[in-house]
Amino acid sequence: MRVLGIETSCDETAVAVYDANRGLMSHRLYSQVSLHADYGGVVPELASRDHVRKLLPLVTEVLADADLDKKQLDGVAYTAGPGLIGALFVGAAFGRTLAYALGIPAVGVHHMEGHLLAPMLEPEPPEFPFVALLVSGGHTMLVNVSAFGQYQLLGQTLDDAAGEAFDKTAKLLGLGYPGGPALAAIAKSGDASRFSFPRPMTDRPGLDFSFSGLKTHTAVLWQAQQQGDQEKADIAAGFEQAVADTLFIKCKRALQSTGTKTLVIAGGVGANQRLRRRLSQLQARVVFPRPEFCTDNGAMIAYVGCQRLLQGMREPMSIDARPRWSLEDVSNQTL
Ligand code: KG4
Ligand code: ZN
Repeated sequence: MRVLGIETSCDETAVAVYDANRGLMSHRLYSQVSLHADYGGVVPELASRDHVRKLLPLVTEVLADADLDKKQLDGVAYTAGPGLIGALFVGAAFGRTLAYALGIPAVGVHHMEGHLLAPMLEPEPPEFPFVALLVSGGHTMLVNVSAFGQYQLLGQTLDDAAGEAFDKTAKLLGLGYPGGPALAAIAKSGDASRFSFPRPMTDRPGLDFSFSGLKTHTAVLWQAQQQGDQEKADIAAGFEQAVADTLFIKCKRALQSTGTKTLVIAGGVGANQRLRRRLSQLQARVVFPRPEFCTDNGAMIAYVGCQRLLQGMREPMSIDARPRWSLEDVSNQTL
């Protein structure tokens, strides 16, 4: 089973080929970051239009990289949700149509299932069961993964996602877009202990998160400062440490409550070095996908699509995309 994977749910056009026997054969990504930078965030209509421009050339390049003709594909997988509806439709329409033209099956993949299973692309993949922390720009959730396709939501954010909190905090500190990496860069020269920050929702039981208060706390703190470079770096470091500590406490709790010994980190915030250092202090095997597979990519979609196609899952003839789609809906999905 050799599958072309297509990811267009947000601001990255990404394509890959995954082969059930040979593993990942090729992958490419085009980031729209510079397109959206002037607007300080993703503009959905511009994202859709750019996916239209970039998708076909990327597919051609990925097939060439893998030294394959499109007729050597056995299936096409595409992100069917959740995400920006117009952006999703580009990948879904292209993927479904290509599969139809080639006479091969298509499958719509849940974006977060892709993130959850991205570590399976590493040379030493984790074994089931594991707990996964998904920390991206749109989501923050803890999931108990007992087997492929068996996902139990343990907790999630009640307001902002962790990545969103990074992006908004970076914006109020006058840093560029995307904010996460920019904030992390200046935090390197900051003193995380100079200012005090809350660790939201850690003093009560449960595994849910809330990050909007932390962002407000940072805004108030910043307003009260001299607003020099050192203040900025110290506040960035303190904020980053507060997010890392909060995630650490919840992950520890999730591992204890499930009796699981392996933690998988997925999503863009998983690229954060301070978070990685903090989580590696857990008494568990902590698995990070390589940074390029922490953020959105086509490889994770090709991988999940391949497993789903092997299970016999098939997309009907209609082209379907879902801006909102619960991860638990794909758990034990009936075939
Ligand atoms: O998973 P992802 O690429 O896209 C989705 O949201 O699905 O995650 C993007 C998020 C953004 O909010 C970005 O600011 C954040 O991940 N991010 C980081 C870092 N790199 C990316 N946040 C903190 N530190 C980083 N090094
Ligand atoms: Zn993502």
